[in-house]
Amino acid sequence: MLKTEFLVRYRTAYQELNRIIDLLSVEDCAVQVDDKHSSIKWHLGHIWWLWNIAISDIDIKRKTFIEQYSYLFNSYYPGYSTSLPQSRRSFGRPFMREILGYQENLNESLEILLSDDSIDSSDYMPALTFALNHMEQHIELILSSIKYLLNSYSPKVTFDSESGTELYLSKSSWLELTGEKNFMLGLNQSATSFCYDCETPQYEHFQYSFIISNRVVTNGEYLEFVEAGGYEDRSYWTNTGWDWVCKNSITSPFYWYKNNVDDWMEFYLLGPRLLNHYLPVTHVSLYEAQAYAKWRDNRLPTEKEWEIAATILDDDFQWGQVWEWTTSKFDPYPKYYPPAKDPMHLSTWSLMDGRPVLRGASCFTPEGHARITYRNYYKPDYRLQFGGIRLAKSI
Ligand SMILES: [Fe+2]
Repeated sequence: MLKTEFLVRYRTAYQELNRIIDLLSVEDCAVQVDDKHSSIKWHLGHIWWLWNIAISDIDIKRKTFIEQYSYLFNSYYPGYSTSLPQSRRSFGRPFMREILGYQENLNESLEILLSDDSIDSSDYMPALTFALNHMEQHIELILSSIKYLLNSYSPKVTFDSESGTELYLSKSSWLELTGEKNFMLGLNQSATSFCYDCETPQYEHFQYSFIISNRVVTNGEYLEFVEAGGYEDRSYWTNTGWDWVCKNSITSPFYWYKNNVDDWMEFYLLGPRLLNHYLPVTHVSLYEAQAYAKWRDNRLPTEKEWEIAATILDDDFQWGQVWEWTTSKFDPYPKYYPPAKDPMHLSTWSLMDGRPVLRGASCFTPEGHARITYRNYYKPDYRLQFGGIRLAKSI
């Protein structure tokens, strides 16, 4: 990524991060509802700890802070330190003002570094670009954590109207794709500024033949499944999915509930609202996505099908409001090899444990961060992020 382009994107992300944090109190930032998410304070410390590592080769005096904060803010970078368990990412000290000071210091260093034309950028840009993408990823995670946090308050609390607004969905239609010529999947790394290594190397796919929906499933469509008793009928669920439903008494998507006059409500960042039938259904697990697809006599797409459709169909294929569950596993692409040395932990290899892949992006994803080849990966029962459903069929 060019230095000028980087600076614009960095400043946008930095401003967005600060705008979000300014809307919260110090007390909000310290709370961790449970081990499904981390406190906002932790996210913030973790974001800047990683920037700290990225910048420390250029700005040596920063190294001391890496050690000081490693135990607290490391997530899964074992080369640096052991780390605080995820269930304990809520703490009194360091104070919020200290973490904000840490952020301010590093921001200042970055601004100086990026504005100095005498420094050759080629050596340090890969690490900085990774840290920028990491910050953008955490902005999405922070918004999801805030939603989870505010929903846990009694009474539920409103946030702001600027972050992540879902858009009404148009009428659905089926799109048929059949082809025999070779189709390149994944990303050609040399042609782009940044991608995670799980999106490479590009590989050829020779034949495709499937039908896919032009858009994701709406709340209204999903409500039909709920009201038809979908959560009570084992025949729609995989064995693991059914165990999950029973064990956790699941009866609807995560943020749905009924008010005292029996209307379906949904919590979103602006607070509780009547369930809007025309918005995408979100915060569902893979199990719910599978069960819904079965109930409709359809199936979920594979990640290959998703990528082929998004590439070929262009604007006719609407995506970007919710992360879409696929039937594919987060495994390496053919001919992928993890790097022999990975001191910055830039590789996604350690996460390739066969968990399901989600494609697309969500309304919480920062602008410029989404791309067709992006592979997201949540555990199948995870509902805190914007997980949604697109249907597909075989021909
Ligand atoms: Fe992280």
